[in-house]
Amino acid sequence: MKILLLGSGGREHALAWKISQSPKCEQLYIAPGNAGTGNCGENVAMKADDFETIKTFCVEKAIDMVIVGPEDPLVKGIYDELKADSRTKDIPVIGPSKQGAVLEGSKDFAKAFMQRHQIPTARYQTFDGEHLEDGLRFLETLQAPYVLKADGLCAGKGVLILPTLEEAQKELKEMLGGMFGNASSQVVIEEFLSGIECSVFVLTDGDHYKILPEAKDYKRIGEHDTGLNTGGMGSVTPVPFATKEWMQKVEDRIIRPTVEGLKAENIDYKGFIFFGLINVEGEPMVIEYNCRMGDPETESVMLRLKSDIVDLFEGVAEGNLDEREIAFDERAAVCVMLVSGGYPQEYKKGYPITGIDQVEGSIVFHSGTALKDGQVVTNGGRVIAVSSYGKDKAEALQKSFEEAQKIQFTDKYFRRDIGADL
Ligand code: AMP
Ligand code: GLY
Repeated sequence: MKILLLGSGGREHALAWKISQSPKCEQLYIAPGNAGTGNCGENVAMKADDFETIKTFCVEKAIDMVIVGPEDPLVKGIYDELKADSRTKDIPVIGPSKQGAVLEGSKDFAKAFMQRHQIPTARYQTFDGEHLEDGLRFLETLQAPYVLKADGLCAGKGVLILPTLEEAQKELKEMLGGMFGNASSQVVIEEFLSGIECSVFVLTDGDHYKILPEAKDYKRIGEHDTGLNTGGMGSVTPVPFATKEWMQKVEDRIIRPTVEGLKAENIDYKGFIFFGLINVEGEPMVIEYNCRMGDPETESVMLRLKSDIVDLFEGVAEGNLDEREIAFDERAAVCVMLVSGGYPQEYKKGYPITGIDQVEGSIVFHSGTALKDGQVVTNGGRVIAVSSYGKDKAEALQKSFEEAQKIQFTDKYFRRDIGADL
């Protein structure tokens, strides 16, 4: 099969690594990719949301399958674009239709969907600029802390958690006043849930689904979960509180109703569903949906997938995912993210990265890297994920921390407490 993978982060390098191991993969292209994905296939200089160029490329290279890594092209409707063009309509896309991607693209849609299908989530209401007063009053009915969510995509910055009513009311005014542009023209206000979070991933063909290993990610820049939110500083799988019993609740109350709900609402959904869950006194509740895999969760979860991922994707495309084998590695897997100094605020790019070839016990996934005159250089906030297996989480983490020391670039930073809370 000739496969095109869209995206350029650590998630895409981990997917490319797994896809390229499949005997069913004859040729892998990654667009635009990074300095690491180039070792798993051929990087193509196309933007993941440049649909015309992507379609022409698919025709010229006789692409048999398109796999979409990030949410942006999905929310913009890459699935529908390919289906609407007679030249590309028969190419399977791993990723939902534009309508399906709204589960991630609109928090209000996601909340209403959960309500329609009795999926456990925090109590909420949505307000637009014309109903600011109602929003301010709704806040008064809740208890601190207050959770405000911009309805649309904000690159992970659209959720505010405020300690006092005054601050929450002030921020609500600012959000509805255009703080995040169009993305905050509607704001979801919801009850604060207290518990530990966990990411659960499902691959679905629209009828059947397979549950992948769960993972926990670490969002804050500082150790002990302090400082600003990032894209994610590391991940660990398995998650100890995600026991068999807990995962059964997740499947019965959340996964199955979601897949069946999508089907009942005639929403085309063939791809990954990412359930951002929180464990509230032993009961799983949904914080958010994403229409893709997580980053940096993919950089640990892919290590535990023993089966051929292209075979699973083929099952998605053909609607017979239930007939495909899925098996997992019993070992633990972790990823530690090396980031640029200053991230998630201002940081510099273009620093040479050395020592990658010294790494032995871990798998290196590139996140924000580029090749400049044959030298790998930093090209983003999150630079490199160091992923490892271990008989348990502690062993895997020790390996990642050790190997992380060998990779050098100016102002490198990583959290040394990944997994320490579990
Ligand atoms: P989201 O973009 O919806 O994942 O929200 C970002 C982060 O905000 C989540 O990962 C949670 O840590 C936190 N969060 C969102 N909603 C709630 C909630 N209702 N209660 C507590 N924390 C929340
Ligand atoms: N790690 C969280 C995300 O990918 O959104």
